[in-house]
Amino acid sequence: MNILVTGAAGFIGFHLADRLARDGHRVVGVDNLNDYYSTALKQARWGRLRHLRVETLDIADLPAMESLFARERFTHVVHLAAQAGVRHSVTHPHAYSHSNLTGFLNVLDLCQRYAVEHLLYASSSSVYGRQATLPFRETDPADHPASIYAATKRANEMMAYSYADLHRLPATGMRFFTVYGPWGRPDMAPCLFAGSLLRGEPIEIFNHGRMARDFTYIDDVVESIVRLLPRAPSREGLAPHEIYNIGRGSPVALLDFVETLERTLGIAAIKRFKPMQPGDVERTWADTQKLQATVGYTPTVSLETGIRSFVDWLLDYRGLLLEEVAA
Ligand SMILES: NC(=O)c1ccc[n+]([C@@H]2O[C@H](COP(=O)([O-])OP(=O)(O)OC[C@H]3O[C@@H](n4cnc5c(N)ncnc54)[C@H](O)[C@@H]3O)[C@@H](O)[C@H]2O)c1
Repeated sequence: MNILVTGAAGFIGFHLADRLARDGHRVVGVDNLNDYYSTALKQARWGRLRHLRVETLDIADLPAMESLFARERFTHVVHLAAQAGVRHSVTHPHAYSHSNLTGFLNVLDLCQRYAVEHLLYASSSSVYGRQATLPFRETDPADHPASIYAATKRANEMMAYSYADLHRLPATGMRFFTVYGPWGRPDMAPCLFAGSLLRGEPIEIFNHGRMARDFTYIDDVVESIVRLLPRAPSREGLAPHEIYNIGRGSPVALLDFVETLERTLGIAAIKRFKPMQPGDVERTWADTQKLQATVGYTPTVSLETGIRSFVDWLLDYRGLLLEEVAA
């Protein structure tokens, strides 16, 4: 396959681009290396992708994207570039239209015009909002987003569906559930909590600890994407568009998560209990039956194993996370 990975200097994109190139595919990675979090971390990931082609490029820049597609003639596109972060979207809503709406439309339109065989794109568990029915199923309604981030991700699903229906562009949306692991994001709980523990500072526990997340280890996410890649949706008479939950299917209470981190680091946390944050949801929990039925795989890595490799990485590389984590 001749594959474009957008957001390749990001957490998931870095791991995926690396794996695809090692599997023998031709891979081009693009990223604009923006400063939403430590650019040193993004540069370090970038530097480790020497075995594939990487380009610094903004997906919202249509002429630059057009020349990339015209030159490279990709067969497959995995679109992971986005402005991520639920909480950031409450205070910086405009950051989300550039990458998640304009940028996404560029990717969609170019995939259609250059006859890409399969577009896989990142959606999010946040599209389920504060839904009470658990676990979350792909067939559940997802029309009450609790943040503008979630709204842009749901909009991406609608946009992709319309291209699939109108232009027969085969597209697959992946609703990721709290991905963690080595080279992870400094704005997410594992890095934030571990950083505070290492610095001996208190950690903020929102909703007084009444929270649960379906933490999903990065290698499980990459394996799921690799298996979905050759399976372009094609349904007679229907839009070739599918959506999958990519989650472990086993929610972890926030306080149990903190305890695992404390045990692994050998440091006791100083906890500050806080009210629920605007835009946040109490629980996430993926129903993984559809993924299992299609690709014969369900994420399996346990929290203990995943946190162990995350912590091993963090202790070696914490300098890269600058003020976010550096002890
Ligand atoms: N990590 C998770 O738990 C999680 C959960 C749900 C959904 N997602 C989604 O998965 C995708 C990957 O997430 P991640 O955790 O790797 O995030 P990330 O922020 O580490 O990676 C995204 C990358 O996209 C790049 N980018 C942003 N805007 C761009 C633009 N306009 N042009 C080019 N590059 C741009 C960023 O520089 C970054 O390197 C995102 O779409 C995110 O919304 C992630």
